[in-house]
Amino acid sequence: MEARLAREFRVLRCREGDKEWDGEIETLVGNADAICPTVADRISDHLMRRAGKRLRIIANFGVGYDNIDHAAARELGVVVTNTPDVLTESTADLAITLLLMVARRAGEGERLVRQRAWTGWQPLQLLGREVSGKTLGLVGFGRIAQAVARRAHSGFGMRILVYSRSEVDATVLARFGARQCAELRELMVASDFVSLHCPSTPATHHLINAEALQWLGPGSALINTARGNVVDEAALALALRNGTLGAAGLDVYEKEPAIESGLFELENVVLLPHLGSATEETRSAMGNRMVDNLVEFFAGRPPRDRVV
Ligand code: DGY
Repeated sequence: MEARLAREFRVLRCREGDKEWDGEIETLVGNADAICPTVADRISDHLMRRAGKRLRIIANFGVGYDNIDHAAARELGVVVTNTPDVLTESTADLAITLLLMVARRAGEGERLVRQRAWTGWQPLQLLGREVSGKTLGLVGFGRIAQAVARRAHSGFGMRILVYSRSEVDATVLARFGARQCAELRELMVASDFVSLHCPSTPATHHLINAEALQWLGPGSALINTARGNVVDEAALALALRNGTLGAAGLDVYEKEPAIESGLFELENVVLLPHLGSATEETRSAMGNRMVDNLVEFFAGRPPRDRVV
């Protein structure tokens, strides 16, 4: 992807992991027609204004684009693209990884072995729960949620419940034997596991708050591979500590890379470092999709993945 990018464009690159990234990008954007941020790079109103009239497109390397100030882009006439589809399967795989790790207490088991504290097989050691035949609630029912539903329903015979603001077509629900719940509370109360797949928007900010976590309850677990700020992370840590929620598997955090400190010491949470799309195949496909969008745009054609 980088070779292709360099063939097609003159690339000004911020150094990876550079603490001075903010200052550096401010200097670079002044000369840029396009910016290609990752989902970890915040593209603010200030930065776009700093870039000035030359900036025409922000081609995000990621499907979520909450790192970009949409309103400012719209106002300034800057096009925004993302990289959908290509990361659906890898992100669904990771949600299922977390589901199984949480259900089977795999993180705890791994820690036990690494600490050289395992003394041998015991009949009651680290007993988890089976996922087969249990109920999985999906919050949001876009491409990734449907890929999770397919795995959970066809692979583990899980019952699927869906909560989505828009009405899901009955034929789509039927593919997974799924039922749509009218209220979030109904889904949370009825699920053994809940997996989040909604975007980060003002409407979903802290959608999973202390009250919603109580609806889920001590026998259940929450999986988040969507965006950290959909969950009130402090409330989550408290619920896990008090046992009002059984367990959680997290790949995303409210203030990445910072993580609510109360989570580190808890055994009933699995913590991954935003790995949803982290496979060689997917990251390479994301890069190509991002370059496709730039090429189309500068050839005067509408880019396939325009979101703003
Ligand atoms: C995305 O593309 O939005 C993902 O979170 C990156 O893994």
